[in-house]
Amino acid sequence: MTKRIFSGIKPTGHLTLGNYLGAVRQWVAADRAPDEALFCVVDLHALTVEHEPARVRRLSRQAATLLLAAGLSPEKCTLFVQSHVDEHTRLAYLMECTASDGELRRMIQYKEKAARAQATGEGVRLSLLTYPALMAADILAYGASEVPVGEDQRQHVELTRDLAVRFNQRYGHTFTVPKATLPTVAARVMDLQDPTSKMGKSHESGAGIVYLLDEPAVIAKKVMRAVTDSGDGAVVYDREARPGVANLLDVLAACSGGDPAVLADGYSGYGALKRDVADAVVELLRPLQERHAGLAADPGAVEKVLREGAERARALARPVVNRAYEAIGLLAP
Ligand code: AMP
Ligand code: TRP
Repeated sequence: MTKRIFSGIKPTGHLTLGNYLGAVRQWVAADRAPDEALFCVVDLHALTVEHEPARVRRLSRQAATLLLAAGLSPEKCTLFVQSHVDEHTRLAYLMECTASDGELRRMIQYKEKAARAQATGEGVRLSLLTYPALMAADILAYGASEVPVGEDQRQHVELTRDLAVRFNQRYGHTFTVPKATLPTVAARVMDLQDPTSKMGKSHESGAGIVYLLDEPAVIAKKVMRAVTDSGDGAVVYDREARPGVANLLDVLAACSGGDPAVLADGYSGYGALKRDVADAVVELLRPLQERHAGLAADPGAVEKVLREGAERARALARPVVNRAYEAIGLLAP
């Protein structure tokens, strides 16, 4: 059986080094034939938290452009926008009829984001709770067997597996049961200013976040100011006791290869380590930034890729979702 790959990214902010090392780089390595690897800008997921319409639209286009700049090739994979393919929401409803309330409330991301929304008085959108049902639909609609994601999405992919198995048991074999694939290093890149929390797309200051389109001087400044651990200043790889240094070593290992614990032996102080990390990140992102400049100048070309991607995606998803509608007991139209 050929493997089919599906993954997605939310247009909720500018893409970060965490997105790149945790996910996008694996996608580029995995793109093969157009119907075997699908990558999606999951714009519907961006509506689960407070949002600005014009910004979501802009970020969706930018995310697609950056994915192409990162090296995804429209000849080899299918790149599209979630809301362009109705099958996602059609299947999401069946997933809501398969998942339980308790199961969704146990999701770590829901608990964290709901607590944050409540604290700021924003109110928690119902779609934040049902988010994993939509994510399961994204994956299952394509019969994907592998889902390359960062560590924070592991729980959602596990839930997707559970839902696929449950649906198949109840209504007959319909879905491929997928599995998450994580990078061996940098599956969870941490914020440079707060190495105990994930480098997310947004944080009040942004000082601990490297964005893919940051200028080289900005990248260097953010890395040089990274919070390292107090103590004797020794460079050792210990994620628990020295999360700041471990994060830098992870990033270095992800950029230039090697094992973070072994790389640590080559340094006697934080300054040299930071300089090497800064250089490695700047060099890693340089080709992407150059390609981005060219692609951004031709938005029509990106739109064409997305239009064609949506057509291909629709053709793959429709029969699977139609089968699921019949299996669950709905009368064929
Ligand atoms: P998101 O930005 O939440 O849509 O995430 C898109 C992809 O990037 C998902 O596969 C995430 O797991 C991955 N990702 C996001 N932030 C990080 C991070 N700090 N480290 C590693 N992977 C990440
Ligand atoms: N929830 C994922 C995230 O926050 C994005 C996503 C939506 C996704 N649907 C997906 C990832 C399907 C993989 C497969 O990063």
